[in-house]
Amino acid sequence: MIYLKTDEEIELMRDSNLLLAQTMGEIAKWVAPGITTLKLDSIAEQFIRDNGGVPSCLGYSGYPNSICASVNEQVVHGIPSNKELKDGDIVSIDFCVLKNGFHSDSTYTFPVGEVSYEVRRLLKTTKESLYVGIEQAVEGKRVGDISNAIQTYCEKRGYSLVREMCGHGIGRQMHESPEVPNFGRRGCGPVLRSGMVIAIEPMVNMGSRNIVIERDGWTARTKDRKPSAHYELCVAIREGAPDVLSTFKYVEEVLGDKFI
Ligand code: MF3
Ligand code: CO
Repeated sequence: MIYLKTDEEIELMRDSNLLLAQTMGEIAKWVAPGITTLKLDSIAEQFIRDNGGVPSCLGYSGYPNSICASVNEQVVHGIPSNKELKDGDIVSIDFCVLKNGFHSDSTYTFPVGEVSYEVRRLLKTTKESLYVGIEQAVEGKRVGDISNAIQTYCEKRGYSLVREMCGHGIGRQMHESPEVPNFGRRGCGPVLRSGMVIAIEPMVNMGSRNIVIERDGWTARTKDRKPSAHYELCVAIREGAPDVLSTFKYVEEVLGDKFI
């Protein structure tokens, strides 16, 4: 069942997404060689609570933290640890905020210090593919139009798309219908209707698309241990143009010319 949101509900969701975006901007100030992902977790939790939100990953299906922090070959759901990030790493920070009764969900893959050209290209392509997918998120198109746009963009550039995990509807529940895969066929899947809100989140691998789940039961990593990148924003479906509820602008302001 797909829940359509009223205009008022979309404004409440925009506010939840704003806090999420600002929290990501706060995290951006701290990502550097030597910091631990547990420290980033506590910074995020504090910032969300101080600003009237709830970190809604915490306790979700028993998840132990407020953010997911997936390093290098980790794809998603990496559990924060006391291991220090080092120069040349990448870290995907993925988390949800509950505010006004609505969830918001975003991911940003940060370079840590100086990363190689190869890895920067992976990050850039993954982020661009998110925007390419967002362009398709308008009333009357289908989910497959988003999926296919992302897949085509990334595969043309030599990358592969994770298939086991998808984007999703979002609202009063963190995960609602429809699923929004990062691969698929144009003109297929559910029709997009004004009032739908979806999280679009390409997970892109430098090597093969295969993943394995670590013994902790959460962390997904690439099977070939090559790096993986992930960017995510929430979008409300409207007539004519997508209404992006979240933004990376707070991150960009902090990263300045390190912004990829
Ligand atoms: N944004 C992630 C997702 O949609 C995080 C979920 S919270 C977790 O899967 F608890 F599952 F990590
Ligand atoms: Co998500």
